[in-house]
Amino acid sequence: MPSIDFSPVRAQFPALQMQDAGRQAVFFDGPGGTQVPQRVIDAMTHYLIETNANHGGAFRTSRQSDAILAAAHEAMADLLNAPSAREIAFGPNMTSLTFQFSRAIGRLLEPGDEIIVTRLDHDANRAPWLALAERAVTVHEIDFNAADCTLDLQDLSAHLNSHTRLVAVGYASNAVGTINPIAQIAQMAHAAGAWLWVDAVHYAPHGPIDVQALDCDFLVCSPYKFFGPHSGVVWGRYDLLEALRAYKVRPAGDLPPDKFETGTQSHEAQAGVLAAVDYLADLGRTYGGAYAANFPGFSGRRLQLKQAMAAVRTYERALFEHFVDGLLAIPGLSFYGICDKARFGERTPTAAFRLSNRSPEQVAQALADRGVYVWSGNFYALAVTERLGIEETGGVVRAGLAHYNTLEEVDYCLGCLRELAE
Ligand SMILES: Cc1ncc(COP(=O)(O)O)c(C=O)c1O
Repeated sequence: MPSIDFSPVRAQFPALQMQDAGRQAVFFDGPGGTQVPQRVIDAMTHYLIETNANHGGAFRTSRQSDAILAAAHEAMADLLNAPSAREIAFGPNMTSLTFQFSRAIGRLLEPGDEIIVTRLDHDANRAPWLALAERAVTVHEIDFNAADCTLDLQDLSAHLNSHTRLVAVGYASNAVGTINPIAQIAQMAHAAGAWLWVDAVHYAPHGPIDVQALDCDFLVCSPYKFFGPHSGVVWGRYDLLEALRAYKVRPAGDLPPDKFETGTQSHEAQAGVLAAVDYLADLGRTYGGAYAANFPGFSGRRLQLKQAMAAVRTYERALFEHFVDGLLAIPGLSFYGICDKARFGERTPTAAFRLSNRSPEQVAQALADRGVYVWSGNFYALAVTERLGIEETGGVVRAGLAHYNTLEEVDYCLGCLRELAE
């Protein structure tokens, strides 16, 4: 049972108070997008009322707007432990940013160069790289072990060579929850002279991220998956960002991050991201004190964010153990991914499963009718459901826990599933 009680934070999330099917709606749809605390809504409203302006003006609203945008870049640098806020670029979402960067990186590639993607990844970390085959770049696909849905690192090793320019891998799978050993993969990629591009979209709400400790080259995430508004953020090593030739208009700045922040950004979203990061820092202050010793050398907001995500990870793991115990006891339920509790450090609290007597879509609909919000299908992790041989039959049901979910919600969902399995 969870030792931390996060339930008081629920009062900060207006959406969590929503009634459906005679009870508070159960939001197990976090892997598709999390709910936002009131302070994120307030920050966006405040932005639009008080400081709504374009970049670089002499007047008050523009100066205040620019200060908020600068603070949002600082906040994301703190969350990712980036050396500098100049290494943070905002964009509309992870998919658009990854296409933008695959085009810019593609300008450096030559026929015969190689790129590696994985079958465990969301298509947003595959399609932008697969598209480079148009430039006669060879793109290899690394397999995963179907039994526990972990990446086949031997397959990765076998495909890395002196022609490999980039490895694109997810921090965690949005379909089955596997966390990949990014630091190890970074070492393998760098030993071959390749860059590592990490998709941290699914991992971000579940644990601390440290781009310096991971030693990756680029990392991309989406604030709407970690309690912020719809937007995307990319971090890259400054020297690489500086060297890449961005697709940009001539009057826009030539230095990072300006050269990658094409057009006018969603400033109100950046105001919301800043508030989301501050929400997490507050979580760290309130719930994460016990974890301070795990992060020597960190102080201020960077430490608070580490503490927050360590507390979130501890809480979610206990809640998920209870959930998986219940799921595995349901007759006719097939579970995909790591189910050995001793190995839950290698996964997020995102459960993928099927019932033998109903399609995933029917299960998701029946749960929706009971006020439980889950997804069914492939969630754009198409290569995963294809590899598991279940794409044709509707993929999986995905129930993802976040720190704002409770034991009572897990028990209610399990009760609904037991009823459906009968
Ligand atoms: C692991 C993963 N990568 C990438 C994406 C795409 O993110 P975005 O919607 O910001 O383009 C998602 C969205 O679900 C995801 O879960």
